[in-house]
Amino acid sequence: MLYLVLQQRFFSFSSFTRRDMFGYFLGFLLIWFLCWWIRDKLKVGKVSDKNVFITGCDTGFGNLAAKVLDRGGFRVLAGCLTEEGAQNLKEETSSRLKTIPLDITKSDSIENATDLIKLEVGNRGLWGLINNAGIPGILCPTDWLQIEHFRRPIEVNLLGPIEMTLKLLPLIKKARGRIVNVSSVLGRLALTGGGYFPSKFGMEAFNDSLR
Ligand SMILES: NC(=O)c1ccc[n+]([C@@H]2O[C@H](COP(=O)([O-])OP(=O)(O)OC[C@H]3O[C@@H](n4cnc5c(N)ncnc54)[C@H](OP(=O)(O)O)[C@@H]3O)[C@@H](O)[C@H]2O)c1
Repeated sequence: MLYLVLQQRFFSFSSFTRRDMFGYFLGFLLIWFLCWWIRDKLKVGKVSDKNVFITGCDTGFGNLAAKVLDRGGFRVLAGCLTEEGAQNLKEETSSRLKTIPLDITKSDSIENATDLIKLEVGNRGLWGLINNAGIPGILCPTDWLQIEHFRRPIEVNLLGPIEMTLKLLPLIKKARGRIVNVSSVLGRLALTGGGYFPSKFGMEAFNDSLR
């Protein structure tokens, strides 16, 4: 009986008037807006104790994230590929922000960065790792490409972040921290040929394996 009433009321579209539909739509919008508002009000506590390491801070999203988190009071450790990138970032941020030289494709550079991070974070551990460094490589039809064109984007966008994550996992666990791997919609949809797509699809798989 209850089933029939519910079906009649909620699943039989022919019984909806325009006014009903408008009411449900407004209700949905209101709930959605409320959830959004509550989510935006959530704040991370004690940010001055929280260390965040970001790769690829010379330019682009990594550079922006470093500046925003630094302004927000976090202890930012910014991985930079070039000395020039590190210098420019230092000039635009507070003395809290530390730059760390990092070429994500080289194991000794990752090792060195890990040692510097350990020294900086001490007993607090690492609260955030943002694997952002990335390159597009050559994007074009697959039959125009050689295997070498695939190697570099896969090394920078996938193998490097995996190695960095493995090295930093103990510090992240210590701080009950978070890992943000910057992927792309092109990690869901391979629009053309090139190493970028396999690298970002791989990153999606790595994310799933971490959850
Ligand atoms: N831009 C977009 O529309 C878009 C869309 C979806 C996803 N993404 C992803 O977002 C991330 C950042 O992209 P972006 O647009 O900000 O690119 P970007 O401006 O080129 O920044 C990438 C950063 O990674 C650094 N980098 C390059 N090779 C490196 C290496 N071997 N080791 C360490 N760092 C290295 C670059 O340093 P240098 O500047 O010194 O080369 C640069 O600082 C990438 O993972 C990208 O795939 C971007």
